[in-house]
Amino acid sequence: MKRLAIIGPGKVGRTLAKLFHEAQVFEIGAIVARRPETAADAADFIGAGRVKGDPAEADIILVSVPDPELESALARLALCDLKPDTIITHTSGARGLEAFASLTGLPVRCVCTHPVKAFSDPDRSVATFAGTMVTLDGEASAQAELASAFQAIGAQTLALPDGIDRTLYHAAIVFMANHLPTLIQAGLETFAQVGISRADGLAIAGPILRDTLEAVLGRGPAAALTGPVARGDAETVSRHLEKLAAADPDRAVLYAALARATADLSAEKGEASVDGLLAIRELTEPDTN
Ligand SMILES: NC(=O)c1ccc[n+]([C@@H]2O[C@H](COP(=O)([O-])OP(=O)(O)OC[C@H]3O[C@@H](n4cnc5c(N)ncnc54)[C@H](OP(=O)(O)O)[C@@H]3O)[C@@H](O)[C@H]2O)c1
Repeated sequence: MKRLAIIGPGKVGRTLAKLFHEAQVFEIGAIVARRPETAADAADFIGAGRVKGDPAEADIILVSVPDPELESALARLALCDLKPDTIITHTSGARGLEAFASLTGLPVRCVCTHPVKAFSDPDRSVATFAGTMVTLDGEASAQAELASAFQAIGAQTLALPDGIDRTLYHAAIVFMANHLPTLIQAGLETFAQVGISRADGLAIAGPILRDTLEAVLGRGPAAALTGPVARGDAETVSRHLEKLAAADPDRAVLYAALARATADLSAEKGEASVDGLLAIRELTEPDTN
């Protein structure tokens, strides 16, 4: 069995290491953190690993330090006596192959493996990992090896296009996964203005949100779209904007930006009147709100 070292045994590192250990995909070797107690705690959580081990003895080195630490952690690794063909991977979504610059010229194989999941609590992350998408980018043979390893712990895997712009790749995920809670919060705050509690607000929104998400994932955003903008109903949009602006100008600006984008999506769907959509675009001009 190949040996995996972990540099940065935080939420992501310890979750992946525990899954690889329990599925007997890799033997867990060195666990490296800045603080010895972090490494010891991670070894307890994983149920394997050596807190004073040498990462250079591993076949695969998983670097899951916070993004600002990534380059310096990799630069320190470049000074170690690494075995030829060692696979070095990082788990950052925002950083790409450029992060491995300090390893250029060494006989190692570098690959980015980004698990597209929110790892907030390691116990929960281990329990819910199956089905997670892991995207890969980098040296081909290392990609293939790591894709098999991730599939063995229940992940789906996808190779990203060569030379992908990681900033935009990451922004796309932030748009969908991080901004959705913000939209729901805006809805709950608007409900609160008319006396609907948070619990009732979530109860009202739950079924339609689940249904919409299923429709978007199944049929695509344009096909799933309903509501006043999709009907080209500029009068309703205008009333919403007026009331929202009176209560909270920032929320009205957010609504206007989204309504404008929704008008473009509605045009793609092709069911709303062109005049209605043009009127919505006029109402939602950024400088008129
Ligand atoms: N959290 C997520 O949902 C998520 C999802 C996908 C990808 N990622 C990516 O995965 C990476 C890790 O994120 P995370 O959320 O797991 O971070 P985290 O929970 O903050 O853990 C980071 C770990 O790295 C250690 N560390 C920090 N600086 C170090 C250094 N210079 N050398 C060695 N160890 C160091 C920390 O322990 P000490 O403080 O004791 O050193 C800690 O154990 C990041 O690139 C992140 O963007 C995160």
